[in-house]
Amino acid sequence: MSNQYVEKVLSVHHWNDTLFSFRTTRNPAFRFEAGQFAMIGLMVEGRPLLRAYSMACAPYDEELEFLSIKVQNGPLTSRLQKIVPGDEVLIGRKATGTLLHDNLVPGRNLYFLSTGTGLAPFMSLIRDPATYERFEKVVLVHGVRLVSELAYEHFIREELPADELIGEMVAAQLIYHPTVTREEYPNRGRVTELFGSDDWFASLGLPVADAAHDRVMLCGSPAMLADMKVMLEGKGFVEGSSSTPATYVVERAFVEK
Ligand code: A2P
Repeated sequence: MSNQYVEKVLSVHHWNDTLFSFRTTRNPAFRFEAGQFAMIGLMVEGRPLLRAYSMACAPYDEELEFLSIKVQNGPLTSRLQKIVPGDEVLIGRKATGTLLHDNLVPGRNLYFLSTGTGLAPFMSLIRDPATYERFEKVVLVHGVRLVSELAYEHFIREELPADELIGEMVAAQLIYHPTVTREEYPNRGRVTELFGSDDWFASLGLPVADAAHDRVMLCGSPAMLADMKVMLEGKGFVEGSSSTPATYVVERAFVEK
């Protein structure tokens, strides 16, 4: 048996010239938890060419969804960006990853801090009822350079709060804070600057995050992860894992090419 399912592309959405998302069929045997990733790719010269991609859909969706960058000479994404409905993609059978509720100890408010395509696992987690059952407020920060990189902005603001299953919880508990660093936009500043600013927490109407009460999940650029790790550990947060749940978790699997 192959390590991958062969699925069909159902739709492709190009957000801009560096970012796209796509939906595929889902083998009913493919199971995952919100926040996990799988190896996704294409057959290239008779061999599977695969990279880690977080599922951006909910675990209960009948289809799968992924968010990807486009790198013009990237071995996988130079090809993947050309997929059209009806094409076949490979989906690794085993989902894995660290951005799991069970890797965190219970807490008050939950922060999802992302840059770029690091948003993807949080697109799944903000559709997971467990997120809202376990925490009072859920803050999703998406940091990007350009406004056009704010994938899913309309969906998160307009569609998710109207969702039949989780809309009510989203409307009451989710705080979405997109932020843009290199263009004019209502929210500016890097994720690290925001999280390090007492005024930012006050602007959200929340107490400053602290390790005694709050929990953090990180996904995004390696530089952001490294800086956030230093900041969080300086504030007493401890990295959790499946063997030792703690107060923050990081996803390091990341598509760069
Ligand atoms: P900036 O524009 O100030 O570099 P990239 O496209 O390089 O992955 O960056 C995505 C977003 O992450 C950008 O808004 C970028 O801000 C921001 N970023 C880059 N490095 C860091 C970092 N070390 N800490 C926080 N945010 C970062």
